[in-house]
Amino acid sequence: MDAFIIDGGTPLSGEITNSGAKNVALKTFVASLLTDDAIRIHNIPRITDVFYMLEVLESIGIRSQFKDHTVDIDKRNGSSTTVPLDVGARLRTSSMVIGPMLARYGEAQIPNPGGCRIGARPIDRHIAALRSMGAHITYNSRDGFYHAKAKILHGTHVLFPKNTHTGTETIILAAVLAQGTTVIENAAQEVEVDDLIRFLVTMGAKIQRTNERTIVIEGVKKLYGTEYTIMSDRNEEVTFAIAAAVTHGDITVNKSQKTGLDAFRDAFRNAGGIADERDDDVTRYRVGKKVRPTDVVTGPHPGFMTDWQAPWAVLMTQAHGVSTIHETVFESRFSYVRELLKMGANITFFEPDVDNPQSLYNFNLSDKKRGDHQAIRIEGPRTLHNAVVVIDDLRAGATLILAALCATGESYIYGIEQVERGYENIEVRLGALGARIRRIKDEI
Ligand code: EPU
Repeated sequence: MDAFIIDGGTPLSGEITNSGAKNVALKTFVASLLTDDAIRIHNIPRITDVFYMLEVLESIGIRSQFKDHTVDIDKRNGSSTTVPLDVGARLRTSSMVIGPMLARYGEAQIPNPGGCRIGARPIDRHIAALRSMGAHITYNSRDGFYHAKAKILHGTHVLFPKNTHTGTETIILAAVLAQGTTVIENAAQEVEVDDLIRFLVTMGAKIQRTNERTIVIEGVKKLYGTEYTIMSDRNEEVTFAIAAAVTHGDITVNKSQKTGLDAFRDAFRNAGGIADERDDDVTRYRVGKKVRPTDVVTGPHPGFMTDWQAPWAVLMTQAHGVSTIHETVFESRFSYVRELLKMGANITFFEPDVDNPQSLYNFNLSDKKRGDHQAIRIEGPRTLHNAVVVIDDLRAGATLILAALCATGESYIYGIEQVERGYENIEVRLGALGARIRRIKDEI
């Protein structure tokens, strides 16, 4: 295990290029199960989750080549319908192969999905919707696998009780080859879902978002190979914008993501940030003299994304006044607070007044455990200082890097493999902006 040492306090300035979106790349790999033709996908980030997902494909007989940022999927060697536990349990997206496998082979065995430790993260909404398409699915708690069978998958009417991003995508991936028409209501609106839809349409799928939260899929008999370039990663861009602001630097992001960042840019401007969007997919981020406090409530798209709240908390430690963050999507996404406290942040948990928790919160209320918090109050400005910190999940990792970049002295950041799940070559790219960051072998 490696660690980063970051000597903070330098303004980060210059140009950086956004990577392709992790949360689209992984799903296009799942979609490759829907055809035997060759598929070429461009703009794929070289991150651990991508390598993990390619291993999942390999474990079920699908080989790929990954050169620069292009993945070619063209060699199929059998068609296993079991995702082995050791490769599948590493990431949530592995569970999504259930739809294409059921549609094409009539069965699937998938391990209970893993992924970042940000709550219980069940897939009950996915399973209920697949059952309504004719799948018979049981969960065996002794082997930790879902066992699914379907003679045919038929079109159906799915009404998700609460927003689910990968749930919506799972049903789309099952419905494209199902018999008849599937209508998904209360479908997720995340822009990554729409990029996956565009990809599937180039394969011959018939999918339309008929209004904001309704998606209609007309099943087709066959899908074909394709070549596609995926969208940029919004979460990376947010990280760079906040890096510019907390270090009082000036960062220009190339391949800036046009859609899906309005809620972030609005909050950034309210906090005294400046985001200059140009027509040629370039956005320049910096901050005025003073960072202003904000009250942020996370939510499904078009709201302020849950993935942004942890890095946002670092920016708010620099704001002049009291800020709040209310997390409504996951029940346990404040693990980074403990580490920011070590660096001198003034953050306290509080219980927000909520009239109707069942409708506000996106997680299943029964998954909330003692010690899970939904809201924090941040008092600023605070000069953060160096510390030895440990990363718990991907976005918490970006958060601690940002905190160390604006802190005084040298910080040691352990658990950086979590960051590598979603950020390509982060130390080299931040180094090119002037960050004093280096990697060491973990000798703890
Ligand atoms: N949920 C359930 N049951 C379900 C599905 C979801 O209880 O069947 C709960 C979840 O536990 C969570 C909430 O509902 O509390 C929302 O879950 P959702 O399904 O929308 O999120 P996800 O699909 O698990 C994806 C991204 C996340 C991102 C969220 C929100 C992928 C692989 N993951 O997660 O990204 O935060 O949507 O947009 O697409 C990341 O990139 O690090 C990451 C965690």
